[in-house]
Amino acid sequence: MSADAEKRSAARAAARHVQSGMRLGLGTGSTAAHFLDALAERCRDEGLQCVGVPTSQATEAQAHRLGLSLTTLDACPELDLTVDGADQIGPGLSLIKGGGAALLREKLVWEASARRIVIADSAKRVDQLGAFPLPVEVVAFGHLTTAARIGQVLHDLGYATAPALRLGKDGEAVRTDSGHLIYDLALLAITDEHRLALSLKAITGVVDHGLFLGLADLALIGTPSGVETRSA
Ligand code: A5P
Repeated sequence: MSADAEKRSAARAAARHVQSGMRLGLGTGSTAAHFLDALAERCRDEGLQCVGVPTSQATEAQAHRLGLSLTTLDACPELDLTVDGADQIGPGLSLIKGGGAALLREKLVWEASARRIVIADSAKRVDQLGAFPLPVEVVAFGHLTTAARIGQVLHDLGYATAPALRLGKDGEAVRTDSGHLIYDLALLAITDEHRLALSLKAITGVVDHGLFLGLADLALIGTPSGVETRSA
């Protein structure tokens, strides 16, 4: 079974958790895109009514194409359910997110949601977070100074790596939907995720990071033998 087929099966399982009238957080990435497709299918075939807050311009554009009803977080600050992908799913449903540069809007929407389901293919399951580089979103102003401070924090915590500015295919720095930059941290193995999260968040110039700790309630993971369910 391909990774994409696993993503699709996890997304379809998540779509079955949606009930009519729900206010949804709509994640970003290829797995979340499958969820939008499955949701639109249920809206069309079963008359399901729901409204969603998109976590990126890409998700917003897809939702428009599918005819899904959208709103904003400011108009709808309390959400019933968010469904989103992840780059890694570790023990206790600790996550690394932000591979698609949408981590800030994603975290805002996750935190506004009463229930959060993470969907993924089986390769995303790990015993320890860190092999996937941890994205950190920083403001563009003075970003080299901010990166140096991130590097100092990493050194103090015992990580032998320097922040790497994320570049696009055109060689230019990637800009998030909010106009910020992304630095990726090749930590390899994260040994104290809570301390790292607090230390990064405390740096002026860091907007947020891709550690999603204590946020996911349920993981639906596509595997060759079916969808695995994990609870926090
Ligand atoms: C977007 O910024 C990310 O948090 C994605 O949710 C994550 O990168 C997973 O992406 P895929 O579903 O494309 O693997």
